[in-house]
Amino acid sequence: MEINDVRIIKLPKFLDERGNLSFAENYKQIPFEIKRTYWIYDVPGGESRGGHAFRKNHEFIIALSGSFDVIVDDGIQKRTYTLNRSYYGLYVPAGFWREMINFSTNSLALEFGSTHYDPSDYIRDYNVFLKMKRNAEV
Ligand code: TYD
Repeated sequence: MEINDVRIIKLPKFLDERGNLSFAENYKQIPFEIKRTYWIYDVPGGESRGGHAFRKNHEFIIALSGSFDVIVDDGIQKRTYTLNRSYYGLYVPAGFWREMINFSTNSLALEFGSTHYDPSDYIRDYNVFLKMKRNAEV
């Protein structure tokens, strides 16, 4: 996958005076089958999360509440995506270094993954990531 495969996907939005509704389905808005979901919340000011890459896991990230930035890095270039609406998701395929920063107060990040949790799928050392990218191992 190339960095151009990383993209913001607009989700359906049903505006209603009773409150709005959005949704996402496997292989429709989300370009993979969801095996896992997790969420990040109560992030103290100035903290960052998720400085790592995945070998196999594809992700789809939504700012359900508040805002934060996701920096995606292919080893050569970095792109920053600001998520601040609950009807946008960021698709991050496997093989990119990604980090989440600038969490607003009370922000809530919802993440879907294409694999079950597997610690061995993580690349946590940036220099190892760069080496793997150079050798096309990820
Ligand atoms: P981690 O992905 O390492 O978060 P970050 O990169 O933002 O620091 O997750 C933190 C801990 O949560 C990790 O040590 C194990 C646990 N965890 C699970 O058990 N299952 C999961 O699906 C995730 C994402 C994390």
